[in-house]
Parts: sequence; C-alpha cells; structure tokens
Amino acid sequence: MPRNTSSVDSAQGPRVPRHVAIIMDGNGRWAQAQGRPRVFGHTRGVDAVRATLQACGERGIEYLTLFAFSSENWRRPADEVSTLMKLFMTALRREVDKLVELGIRMRVVGDLSAFDPELRRVILESEQRTAANRRLNLTICANYGGRWDIAQAASRAASARRHGEAVAVSEDEIARNLALSFAPDPDLLIRTGGERRISNFLLWQLAYAELHFSDVLWPAFDAAELDRALAWYATRQRRFGMTGEQIGGATAVANVV
Ligand code: IPE
Ligand code: IPE
Ligand code: MG
Repeated sequence: MPRNTSSVDSAQGPRVPRHVAIIMDGNGRWAQAQGRPRVFGHTRGVDAVRATLQACGERGIEYLTLFAFSSENWRRPADEVSTLMKLFMTALRREVDKLVELGIRMRVVGDLSAFDPELRRVILESEQRTAANRRLNLTICANYGGRWDIAQAASRAASARRHGEAVAVSEDEIARNLALSFAPDPDLLIRTGGERRISNFLLWQLAYAELHFSDVLWPAFDAAELDRALAWYATRQRRFGMTGEQIGGATAVANVV
C-alpha cells in the first residue's frame, strides 16, 4: 500500500481525526456583509485561526493544515495581495511565542521562492523556534497548489534517478517528495464559506479524506463549528475501497474506536 495512505488496520478509524485540513474561505464576504473592506475579514480570520488551534490542541488532533494563500490568489487585486503578505508576517511575528507556549510545531509549505526575503526569513525563524514542539503539528499552506505539489514531487523523484534512465515513478516515490510527506494524509477536510470545491488544495493527499462543507464564513468559525464537523466525521464509515461488511458493523458505529 502506498506510503501516506491510511492502512486497512485503521479503516474503522479513530473517533477523533489525526489530521484535519481546512480551506479557510469566506473572509471577504464576512467583511463585506458588515460594510467593511475585504481585508478586515482577513484580519479577523487570524483570530479564528488562533481559536481553532487552541480547540484542535484540546481535542487531541495531531496535525492541523490550513490553506492560507493559494497559487491562484496572486490573481487578486495587488493591494489585497500585499495586505495579505503583511498580515502573514505580522501574525507570525506576534504569535510565535504563543505557539511555543502551546507546544505547537509550525511549518509553512508551498512555493516560498515567490515571497519577499524578509517574509521568508520570518518563516524560517518561526519554524526553527517551534521545531522541538510535539503537541500539535500546524502546517500553513502559502503559495500552495495541489498541482504544483504533485509536479514538484514528481520532478524531485525523477531527478533522484540515475541520469537518462527511463523508469516509471511510483506512487510511493511521489508521496515521499510531497510538501506534507512528514504527515499522514488528512482524515477530515473542512471547507468554510459555503463553496463545495477543493480549489487546488491537497489534490493527492485528500484521496480518502472525509469532506465537510460548512456555510459558516471563516472569521465566524469557532470551537462549536469545529465540533459539528468532528461529530459528523465520527459517524462516517471509512471503507478505503472495501465493503462495509469487511470493515464490520453498520455506518452508525463507524469511526468509533
Ligand atoms: C479566504 O477568504 C482567504 C484567502 C483566500 C486568502 P476569501 O478572501 O476568499 O473570502 P471570500 O471567499 O472572497 O469571501
Ligand atoms: C481557496 O479559497 C484558497 C484559500 C482559502 C487560501 P479561494 O477563495 O481562493 O477559492 P475560489 O477561488 O473561490 O475557488
Ligand atoms: Mg474565497
């Protein structure tokens, strides 16, 4: 079985997902609904991240992966993009002490070469300062795209080959070179903001994730909304291609340890 794919043993799955991934959508609409500029929604979105981190830590979630800025978000108006970059840098600087205090290890993944050198330096420093933490693994996806990730993983896998050798690249080799190779695949994907799409997020890694779509706009997301998603997740029977009988028991008891 390919690496990074949940094994048959875990098909019944624990009640609490090990890895939750979130597409934090709806900041702009949340702000506009209150007659405020879109960027106000991004500022409030940072508060929702803080609350979600705390709640995930308390619920024993091991990996939390957040989609903060997609490869396609560069297409937005220049002033919104530059505000997002500034906000990212301020939030990292301001929150890193809190991450250390809470035992959270933070990583930023994506094509970071497009970022300002100062932002890259702050990212590296924050990663280094939290590197020894073990309670929760927080991954921020910035200038991230699922297609970019698969392409860069395939290139890295191919370049590790002896020159000129034409051999098929295996799923395992790609999985080992993906940006989130240190984490198990997400068990649960939450998208806020009402859209039912993946928007080029973790295309490879979401192969068997349970997909939960919430109409709540990201700045309004809180522990209660997280708990609704977790309660729904606990009712899912994860079959990974097998039959319900093989997994054992009815849907209602699925995901119960
Ligand atoms: C998500 O909220 C944040 C980013 C994509 C950076 P949006 O900014 O997409 O908010 P809506 O979807 O326009 O309301
Ligand atoms: C997805 O939201 C990206 C992030 C949350 C960072 P978008 O708002 O960019 O997605 P689309 O454009 O509506 O699909
Ligand atoms: Mg959006």
